[in-house]
Amino acid sequence: MNNSDLNRIKHTINSPDSLLLKGPCALNGTVRVSGSKNAVLPILAATLITDKKCTIRNVPELTDISIMTELLKILGKKVSREENVLYVEKEKDTPGVAPYELVRMLRASILVMGALAAGRNSLKVALPGGCLIGERPIDIHLKGLKKMGAEIKVSGGFVELNASGLKGAEITLDFPSVGATENLAIAACGTTDKTVLENIACEPEVDELFSFLKSLGAKIKHSGSTVSIKGRSRYGGSDFTVMDDRIQAGTYVIAGAVKGSDVRIEFSSPETLDALVEKLCECGCRIDTGSDYIHIKTPEKLKGTDIRTAPYPGFPTDLQAPFMALMSCSEGVSLINETVFENRFLHCGELKRMGADIEIKKDIAIVQGVEKLTGAPVAAKDLRGGAALVIAGLLAEGVTRISETEHIWRGYEDIVGHFKKLGAEIWTE
Ligand code: UD1
Repeated sequence: MNNSDLNRIKHTINSPDSLLLKGPCALNGTVRVSGSKNAVLPILAATLITDKKCTIRNVPELTDISIMTELLKILGKKVSREENVLYVEKEKDTPGVAPYELVRMLRASILVMGALAAGRNSLKVALPGGCLIGERPIDIHLKGLKKMGAEIKVSGGFVELNASGLKGAEITLDFPSVGATENLAIAACGTTDKTVLENIACEPEVDELFSFLKSLGAKIKHSGSTVSIKGRSRYGGSDFTVMDDRIQAGTYVIAGAVKGSDVRIEFSSPETLDALVEKLCECGCRIDTGSDYIHIKTPEKLKGTDIRTAPYPGFPTDLQAPFMALMSCSEGVSLINETVFENRFLHCGELKRMGADIEIKKDIAIVQGVEKLTGAPVAAKDLRGGAALVIAGLLAEGVTRISETEHIWRGYEDIVGHFKKLGAEIWTE
């Protein structure tokens, strides 16, 4: 990657745009969700285990995806895009170094570690560093790779890994980490031994990665929180269509609960949002779910409810912030318990600036519903916190100006277009 590539990505990420909304605003109509960012990222990393061409369809246009494709280019791939299709093929041998400049911009770039290990490479991957929503260590990734025979040294901000002795192993994850499950599953494809991973993450995006690895030729048996993987020495190519983004869909479902709304959200896997749908029904929403849509209508008065985030199929931590924004204007008290990340309440301060009544006690936010929020200048501190502010902007009276929108562009393709289509007064400046 040359400096102009890096500057181009930095420019997109540092885009100065503010997002503005004028509320209160009910939403009406239909929205079609795009492909899943969190499914595409590990799949792109996994393309490194094959020399053959991979065609990945339904890829959203997002900064995080651009960063991952730049990383793949550095690691020897040629990547091209035609609308929402990415073509990935081998151009040169992998140099085996994932540089800090890119890894620091995208935590998920740590997923190339498993893929490079699968190729028995000696590799050097920059540590992703801290993250605003918590410490987010990678100890579970490294412990698993060590068990698979990799020699690991952490020094100078890099993980140095020698995977020449990679072998199958039985590994029980300390926590069902999504990233660690994905990294270890990809690494396991690098050996013809059998690897068994227990206590794995069961998020649908993990399943999607398993399907992709199978399409390349890996033998994978997945049942509940256990997966067994048998790799091979050479892999084929693949033509793979990625699932739709359930978190993007969930955000629109929550937006559809704003007073007076009637919204149909179309996407491939509505059953993945059962935990959210159950909670919104408790709040009084009327929800009809089909095989490829969720249709939500709001009640006259939304009741508050409690949620506790948990690994899938529990309530998704990625929807905690948008849900909290909704609860800030509902009837009564709602308790929001965040159990997956230790510091995922950065949006609370911003919601309070708009008039929300929220008190934090360790990992619980106590939200006392207020009659109305008021538009204010606020900042998106992280991706889902940014989505929460968009929901708050729909609920609030007056204009909400959201800055630091680079976080929002990382995860929501054409969010302005989608909300406009649903009748929101939303624009960028
Ligand atoms: C992925 C998702 C993110 C989602 C999260 C949980 C992607 C690109 N991102 O992130 O949107 O919020 O899953 O559903 O798919 N942990 C450790 N040690 C480790 C790994 C994780 O302690 O080695 C902890 C983390 O600090 C965190 C928790 O485990 O508190 C969950 O992290 P993890 O499931 O790994 O999330 P990510 O894969 O980073």
